[in-house]
Amino acid sequence: MTRLRYAFIRRPDRALVLRLEEMYRAAGWWRPKDTPALLRRIVRGSRRFLVVFEGGRAVGMGRALGDGANDAYIQDVFVDEALRGRGIGAQIVRRLVRRLKADGAGWIGLIAAEGTRPFYEKLGFRRMKGCDPMLLQGSG
Ligand SMILES: CC(C)(COP(=O)(O)OP(=O)(O)OC[C@H]1O[C@@H](n2cnc3c(N)ncnc32)[C@H](O)[C@@H]1OP(=O)(O)O)[C@@H](O)C(=O)NCCC(=O)NCCS
Repeated sequence: MTRLRYAFIRRPDRALVLRLEEMYRAAGWWRPKDTPALLRRIVRGSRRFLVVFEGGRAVGMGRALGDGANDAYIQDVFVDEALRGRGIGAQIVRRLVRRLKADGAGWIGLIAAEGTRPFYEKLGFRRMKGCDPMLLQGSG
């Protein structure tokens, strides 16, 4: 495996936007109405957007929403299927957490996709007792 590079991005070029789209599609997080322009706005509007590169190719990502003062949510953590199980996903989350803490975040939450709870538990996240993740009907 070529050396991996982890980089926070803000203004992805066209090639990277298309590659991010591929990853969103592979994860099942791409709706028919989504566009590369929307993806650009998602990157810019995220508090932090981390991409993992192997050579010149993006092979993983993760991002955080936040107020830059106290609260942050991690989401869209993804690693190319062929590269899973090598610690890349854990690195993405650790690096996001480190950066968010440096930004001042004292509350860092996320919604674990089905089957990923053990992954996040290994990274120090715990189920929030007495809370249910909720979504506005029709907004997903
Ligand atoms: C979840 C995901 C990001 C994990 O990435 P990864 O690079 O394979 O994870 P890592 O290799 O860094 O795993 C770190 C540890 O978590 C464990 N782990 C990873 N995924 C796991 C899972 N689904 N269930 C149980 N344990 C898991 C690994 O075995 C490893 O354990 P170890 O430290 O004891 O060796 C990756 O499977 C993925 O992209 N999934 C599809 C998208 C997704 O569901 N993302 C989560 C959105 S909330």
